[in-house]
Amino acid sequence: MLALALLSGCDQALPDDADARVRHGQVLMTRYQCGSCHVVPGVAQADGRVGPSLARFGRRSYIAGEVPNRPEALARWIAAPQSVVPGTPMPDMGVPDRDARDMAAYLLSLQ
Ligand code: HEC
Repeated sequence: MLALALLSGCDQALPDDADARVRHGQVLMTRYQCGSCHVVPGVAQADGRVGPSLARFGRRSYIAGEVPNRPEALARWIAAPQSVVPGTPMPDMGVPDRDARDMAAYLLSLQ
């Protein structure tokens, strides 16, 4: 497990349970500066107004009004929004799948 964490290049312990994923996702939201475009509760200086607020996102039925809000779909959206809804104003940011999954876990924890 430790070797895997080191190999992955991530400076955090490898998230191996749901809570750790959520916490890691919260840290990543700051690192990827999602808050420059979104209000995100629990993330410092996340007060952007370019995109919609992500408050209580765990209660949302749809992503971008189009895709049912499920963990896999949300992770896909964060990794490559243009592939989910072509032409969406949210840019592809080159987020790796694993980081996208952890940020999806964080957003879905916002009730
Ligand atoms: C350059 C601005 C910008 C950045 C940076 C950005 N987003 Fe977005 N995001 C948007 C816009 C604009 C939308 C609305 C897209 C639409 O409705 O088609 C959006 C939509 C979303 C949605 C769906 C919101 C809803 O109401 O359905 C989620 C979830 C989301 N972004 C997560 C993220 C995450 C996580 C990050 C960081 C990895 C991020 N965004 C970074 C601009 C941005």
